[in-house]
Amino acid sequence: MADKKRIDDVTGVETTGHVWDDDLEELNKPLPKWWLYVLYASIIWAIGYWVLYPAWPGINGYTEGYLGYSQRAAVMEQVAAGKAAQAKYRESIAKAELAEIKSDPDLLNFALAGGKAAFGDNCAPCHGRGAEGFKGYPNLNDDDWIWGGDLAAIEQTIRHGIRSPDADTRVSDMPKFGQDQLLDAAQIGDVAEHVLSLGGNSTDPDAAARGAALFAENCAACHGETGSGMLELGAPNLTDAIWLYGGEKADVVESIKTGRGGVMPPWHTRLDDVTIKQLAVYVHALGGGK
Ligand code: HEC
Ligand code: HEC
Repeated sequence: MADKKRIDDVTGVETTGHVWDDDLEELNKPLPKWWLYVLYASIIWAIGYWVLYPAWPGINGYTEGYLGYSQRAAVMEQVAAGKAAQAKYRESIAKAELAEIKSDPDLLNFALAGGKAAFGDNCAPCHGRGAEGFKGYPNLNDDDWIWGGDLAAIEQTIRHGIRSPDADTRVSDMPKFGQDQLLDAAQIGDVAEHVLSLGGNSTDPDAAARGAALFAENCAACHGETGSGMLELGAPNLTDAIWLYGGEKADVVESIKTGRGGVMPPWHTRLDDVTIKQLAVYVHALGGGK
């Protein structure tokens, strides 16, 4: 074999001496040096890595490596550092009155960020991501409040809920004028026209006029003489264009028939104090609260 090695005429490169079919010869072209060095360096690096870091899976675990490094531990460390940084703010918020949080820019920023996150997790399913609300679930941006829009009122609502099982829940039940036959269908139609007329939307002035007397008798106690609502009773303002259940005649009739009775769960059993305070500050800031 060795004797068949020779310098190839065409390329000027030595052959390996391997010959096929009598005249097919192989040129001796080894891998470039730089490539081999990179390969060797990679192998050495890999061995070093196996020794220092977790590498090989085994039956009862894995080789942990000389440095004892673990990504999980590294993440835990970062989380702990983050918590420690937050702890300072959380402590201040725990001690502070809501108004104090509002007036301290650092605490306010922290509360708004925390409140926003907690809102997304807990409140968005009912109130919407941007707190824009849905039918039966109030918009919290519009500075129109059913139960009150100052910091304390908002905190109270969040803490104890509305018509919830909580002992301190906000509660107020509009009578079911239709279901309990307190008013007949014609009367409900009339008083609905009166409600629409409060916002300038009645199309039947006679019915609205008949409804006015019914309203004074049956509704004013909660919604006020003029229909502008009462926060203490959670009775919405009926004179503005903001409707919880809709402002079409059919919606208003339905509200009068059934009394509605929206339920908001209490949160003090599920969220800690600091989170509730953050939420109160966040919601207050949304609506340009009172
Ligand atoms: C299961 C649905 C639901 C969830 C979840 C929910 N809410 Fe509500 N929320 C309601 C309903 C319904 C009302 C209106 C009740 C009524 O008819 O008076 C309401 C009312 C409110 C009000 C009073 C608005 C006003 O005009 O006075 C505030 C403030 C509020 N929610 C904040 C929150 C916050 C903050 C969260 C999250 C921690 C939350 N809600 C989670 C259903 C929900
Ligand atoms: C005992 C107090 C009370 C009385 C009396 C009462 N309401 Fe209400 N009304 C409420 C409350 C509380 C709500 C809010 C219900 C909810 O949030 O689920 C409400 C809601 C409404 C709504 C829905 C408002 C919206 O934004 O969608 C209409 C309409 C309404 N009432 C009309 C009337 C009319 C008309 C009468 C008289 C026939 C009347 N109410 C009597 C307490 C009362």
